[in-house]
Amino acid sequence: MSDYSLFGDTQIAPNCGKTVKQGGGAEKPFDDQRAPKISLRNVHKSFKGRKVLDDISMDIMPGESHVVIGLSGAGKSVLIKCILGLLRPDSGTILINGEDWFDMSIEERLRRMPCIGVLFQGAALFDSMCVWENVAFVLLQQSMPRVDARKQAEQMLEMVGLPGIGDKMPAELSGGMKKRVGLARAICHRPEIVFYDEPLAGLDPVMSDVITILLKRLHETMNVTSLTIAHNMKLVQAFSDQVSMLYEGKIYAQVSAQELQETKDPLIRQFVEGRAEGPIRFGFESEMSGQPDANDKGEAT
Ligand SMILES: Nc1ncnc2c1ncn2[C@@H]1O[C@H](COP(=O)(O)OP(=O)(O)OP(=O)(O)O)[C@@H](O)[C@H]1O
Ligand SMILES: [Mg+2]
Repeated sequence: MSDYSLFGDTQIAPNCGKTVKQGGGAEKPFDDQRAPKISLRNVHKSFKGRKVLDDISMDIMPGESHVVIGLSGAGKSVLIKCILGLLRPDSGTILINGEDWFDMSIEERLRRMPCIGVLFQGAALFDSMCVWENVAFVLLQQSMPRVDARKQAEQMLEMVGLPGIGDKMPAELSGGMKKRVGLARAICHRPEIVFYDEPLAGLDPVMSDVITILLKRLHETMNVTSLTIAHNMKLVQAFSDQVSMLYEGKIYAQVSAQELQETKDPLIRQFVEGRAEGPIRFGFESEMSGQPDANDKGEAT
C-alpha cells in the first residue's frame, strides 16, 4: 500500500532506566505490571483564577493507549505539561512509574527522561539543529556515536514517510513535515511512555491514515504506554483503549472507544459528532447572541 516500512524488521526494545528508589536509597527495577505507569490524584491547576484542571484523578496502566479529548482550551495540553513537569500543579500528586518527579533533582529527572517521548502540539523542533539531529536528540544526549544515532534517526524518518530529509533544517519544512519529524523524535529512542499532543494536526487525510496506522503498530510492537490528545475521531476509534473527556476542568467521562461511540450522553454526542448545537457551553455564546453569558454567573444551562 505504501513505501513506509511501518517498522518492518526493526527490533524495538524500550529504552528506560526504569528504577524506583527503595528505603535506604537502593534502586530496583520498576516492573510491576499492575501498578499504573502514570497516576494523577486530585490535580488542580489555575491561571489567573481560572480553573483549568479542577480535581483531576486518573490512572494509565502499563501498555494502555489513553486518549484525552475535549474542546479547544479545555486544558488538554496543560494536563500533559503538568505530567511532564513543565508546569507545576497548584495541588495534587502526579506519579510516573510510581515516582513523583517534582520531588527529584534535575539530575534525577534527566536520568529518567529517556523513558519518555513527547510529540508537542507545535512539534517544537530545535531550529539550530538539522532534521536528523532533532530526531536523534535523546540518543546524542546519551552519547550514542553520531553515525549510529544518524542511522536510527534516518530509519525513523523513513517510517514517518520522510526518507532522505535528514540534512534539511526545520525552517525548510512544511507544518505537516515538522509534525512528522516531531513524531520521529518522540519515538526514536524507544521510550516506554509516549505523549502525543495532537499527532494528526496539520496532516492531509492520507498521511493522517498512515500515521494512525503507525501509532497503532508502534503501540503494539513496542508495548508503550501512551497518552494522546486527539480531535480526530478516526484516530480515537483506532488507537484508544480508554478515552477521557475533559470538560470545564473535570474529567466528564472516562470510557472505552466503543462506549464513546455508543453513548447517548448528549454532551459527548455533540462533541463526537462535531455539532455546534447542543449542551456544550463554549463561553462565547453571549458574544454571539448579545446576551449575558450564563457561564460567567456560574448558572447551569
Ligand atoms: N502558561 C500559561 N499561562 C496562562 N494560561 C495558560 C498557560 N497555558 C495554558 N493556559 C490557558 O489554559 C487553558 C487551557 O489551555 P490548553 O493549551 O491546555 O488547551 P487545550 O485543551 O490544549 O486546547 P487546544 O485543543 O486548542 O490545544 C487556556 O485557556 C489557556 O489560555
Ligand atoms: Mg492543546
